[in-house]
Parts: sequence; structure tokens; C-alpha cells
Amino acid sequence: MRIILFGPPGVGKGTQAKLLAEEFAIPHISTGDLLRAAVKNKTPLGMKAQEYMSQGNLVPDEIMIGLIEEVLSSKKASKGFILDGFPRTVAQAKALDALFERMGIALDRVISLRVEHDEVIRRLAARRMCRQCGRIYNLHQLDDETTKCQDCGGELYQREDDKPETSRHRLEVYLKETKPLKDFYRRSGRFTQIDGMKDIPVVHKTLLDLLLKNGLPKE
Ligand code: AP5
Repeated sequence: MRIILFGPPGVGKGTQAKLLAEEFAIPHISTGDLLRAAVKNKTPLGMKAQEYMSQGNLVPDEIMIGLIEEVLSSKKASKGFILDGFPRTVAQAKALDALFERMGIALDRVISLRVEHDEVIRRLAARRMCRQCGRIYNLHQLDDETTKCQDCGGELYQREDDKPETSRHRLEVYLKETKPLKDFYRRSGRFTQIDGMKDIPVVHKTLLDLLLKNGLPKE
């Protein structure tokens, strides 16, 4: 199964991708997570990406296309994947189609999560992440004293780009650069939009029903 989870920042792509990855036993490939790891490890990629990310801007296409080619060509992705955060521009989407053609594989579906913009900003403000394993939390799930990840004991932190001003800018960048991709994928008949306003388990169930209905088998 090869799918893309699509939508604005904070819509729940990472949350749902992690659940599906467990369910279908395929990797969740998040370009945001890959970039944050590169920044943390101070790799050449991280050094290049850091400033764009902290300001809520997109990392240039040539860097992102190179990164995704490397990851999707690796053994880890050979049985399928859930892409989260890529593509984000028409140039990235075209490069991804060209890569799939070279690799002789096909994209099964692009699933867009729809959430009202005010709710997206609220979700981003309330998000906390584990610095170690990347588990995603929101403040409503945590009591005041909880500062450590329930899975690995790592420190919980607020992403620099989740501060309200940067979140709003990321949403503007999404509307200008990324939202036009909906038409790109609609035209190719690979696009489905679902309601992301519902609770996490309800959205997960909707995704599962959709994927299984489309005949995408569990591994
Ligand atoms: P990235 O990490 O991809 O950020 P994003 O797309 O903005 O998405 P988010 O991670 O913010 O949100 P999400 O949809 O995954 O929501 P989540 O599940 O966490 O990218 C970061 C930066 O990297 C970019 O700004 C850019 O600089 C760079 N970058 C990455 N890819 C790039 C690319 N291809 N090209 C160029 N630059 C790139 O949920 C959010 C919160 O809501 C959580 O607290 C969660 O618990 C909660 N929540 C989730 N679902 C629900 C629900 N149903 N109800 C209530 N709360 C919910």
C-alpha cells in the first residue's frame, strides 16, 4: 500500500499515519520528522533546513526531492509506505510521479483530512511532542505534572514552529503552495477527502474503512 496523507499543518496527518503504520505494518515516512532528526543531529541537511523550518517556510524543492528519492528507494519502503508531509508543492508532486514511474510502482491514493482553520491553530497550540521517539500528544491528554513521554520517558516539548504566529504563517504557506495539489491529484482520480474534525479514533476508523473498501490489503 502506498498512500499520501494530505492536509494543512496540525490536521492530524502524523497522528493518523502512526496508527495506520502499525495497523498495516508499513513505514510512516514523515518529511517533517526526517528534517527534525537532521536538525537535532546537526547534519548538513539539518543545517540547511533549520532556518526555513523555524520560520514556518518550506525547505527548497531540490533538497526535499533529493531526500524523498533516497528514502523511498531504500529497502525500508519496499513493501509500501504512508507519506506524511510530502509532496507540498506541484514541483514535488511531479517529481514524485516521475520517481514512481522510474521505480515501476504506483500511488494508491491521496487522502486529504479536512479540518476548519481555527481548529488547526488550536490543535497546534496544544501539541506536545516527545523529543526522543516523536510520539505526538495534546495538552488535553496530559495532566499538569506530566513532562515525560509515556512510551520512552523522553522529554515532552513544544515545537518551535507551533507558536501561534509561526503556525498562522505555516497555514498561509499551506494555502498558497500546497492546497493547489488537491486539484493536481483530483485530476488524476487518486484523491479522497475525509472529515478530520471528528475524534482521533473516529477518523482512524474512517481511514481504515476507506482503505479496505479500496481493496488495499493488510500486509
Ligand atoms: P511537518 O512536520 O510535516 O509539519 P506539518 O505538515 O505542518 O504538519 P504537522 O506535523 O504540524 O501536523 P499534523 O497534520 O501531522 O498533525 P498532528 O498529527 O501532529 O513539517 C514541518 C516543517 O518541515 C515545515 O513547516 C517545513 O518547513 C518542513 N517540511 C516538511 N516537509 C516538507 C516538504 N515536503 N517540503 C518543504 N518543506 C517541508 O496533530 C496535531 C495536534 O492535534 C496533536 O496535538 C494531536 O494530538 C492533535 N490531534 C490530531 N488529531 C486530532 C483529532 N482528530 N482531534 C483532536 N486533536 C487531534
